[in-house]
Amino acid sequence: MTEFDFPNETEAERGYLVGIAFQSERALLSIEDSLSELALLADTAGIRVVGRTWQRLRQINPKTLIGTGKLQEIVDEVKLREASVIIFDEELSPRHQRELEKHMGESVRLLDRSALILDIFAQHARTSEGALQVELAQYEYLLPRLTRQWTHLARQAGGGGARGGSGGVGLRGPGETQLEVDRREITRKITKLKQDLEHVRAHRSLHRRRRRSSGLPLAALVGYTNAGKSTLINALTEAKVYAADQLFATLDPTTRRVQLPDRREALLTDTVGFIQKLPTTLVAAFRATLEEVVEADLLLHVVDVSHPNAGQHIEAVEDTLAEIDASSMPRILALNKTDRIKGALPAFDLIDTYVGMVAISARDGDGLDELLETMRAALSAQMTSLEVVIPYQTGQVYSDLYDKGYIESERTGSEGWRLRLRLPKSHCENYRQFAVLAAE
Ligand code: GTP
Repeated sequence: MTEFDFPNETEAERGYLVGIAFQSERALLSIEDSLSELALLADTAGIRVVGRTWQRLRQINPKTLIGTGKLQEIVDEVKLREASVIIFDEELSPRHQRELEKHMGESVRLLDRSALILDIFAQHARTSEGALQVELAQYEYLLPRLTRQWTHLARQAGGGGARGGSGGVGLRGPGETQLEVDRREITRKITKLKQDLEHVRAHRSLHRRRRRSSGLPLAALVGYTNAGKSTLINALTEAKVYAADQLFATLDPTTRRVQLPDRREALLTDTVGFIQKLPTTLVAAFRATLEEVVEADLLLHVVDVSHPNAGQHIEAVEDTLAEIDASSMPRILALNKTDRIKGALPAFDLIDTYVGMVAISARDGDGLDELLETMRAALSAQMTSLEVVIPYQTGQVYSDLYDKGYIESERTGSEGWRLRLRLPKSHCENYRQFAVLAAE
């Protein structure tokens, strides 16, 4: 822990939620639904929600965002319910944050939705890259919001006293205030984190190249948080997949092999869960991870159809996909948790943009065979047809192609094996020298 770590929520924290509906903006979720989601986020972060309120704003109060009457009501409610943290369902501007803090008093902590999500991500980051990305996002979020009150609180949570890895951290230069020292220190940390991330990424791109050279097509799972992506990857891999192959043992642990109905294999990779109003610093910090989504051959979008806001969840995921330029990628929609639905499944907009749609229950295993068949068909459609002549002395290339491609015909001739096949587009380049005809 450093002196700038976000203070840890403990079970004892009691949270009061504040929602805002801006009349000028079209919100994805209703204010009530968005607050219910915020309550789940708070719960995930270990905060017990003891009350909630909201305000529809026609006009923003430039100082305090919400009106002064509403603010006083919140202050009173917070006192009455003995809440120790107030959580706004919107990202607060640094200015609003400062002004609101003044009214809340020293004993109450003010969080916004972004800080809460960042905190949850920090708790859940499993890989070193994930942890670095979240830390970077946290510092970038924090830098413009650094206040004397904040650093004071953070120091208390961090065990007191300015500390740091490089020695001399926290020492003031001539004429510098503590706040300036802290800003300088955070800027330094941001630079260092970016360097560390570069390092990790260089390493990862090596893994990616190795994965690519495996020749297996890659499907990436995307979906709203809690849709059931992890349950699905487990269900598919436990039921259908060989034990972990050594070649991929050092990859991101959430990339697994899955066997398709034609006995070919594909790689299935899990990604971060999406949520509406994802903090901008987080999207920026996770851009590299999310770009892996763009490199996949197919997206498997998992949605919890039993959720009353399933349609909005699909839209929120689509919005994030658009942000990372993944909107034109082939995608299958997996309607999950159908075991919870009695009667007909709900209908959704945007369905036309999917190459397939399958109803499943990742928990019970229903529909998984159909899902795998839909994946097979979609991946096969993603492949490029080509015709190659493989000289007899390069038998390894011949057997590689049988492993990686879909062989449509084989003839033998004086120069070697003549194969018509379909290969994942990303692998065609490796065999370009043997190609006699690129059919597509
Ligand atoms: P994030 O990590 O937040 O992105 O979530 P996720 O999409 O990986 O969801 P996860 O697999 O963790 O599942 C979320 C919850 O839904 C868990 O409690 C699962 O047990 C439950 N769940 C997943 N699939 C099904 C299903 O088919 N039916 C039912 N009833 N519950 C399911």
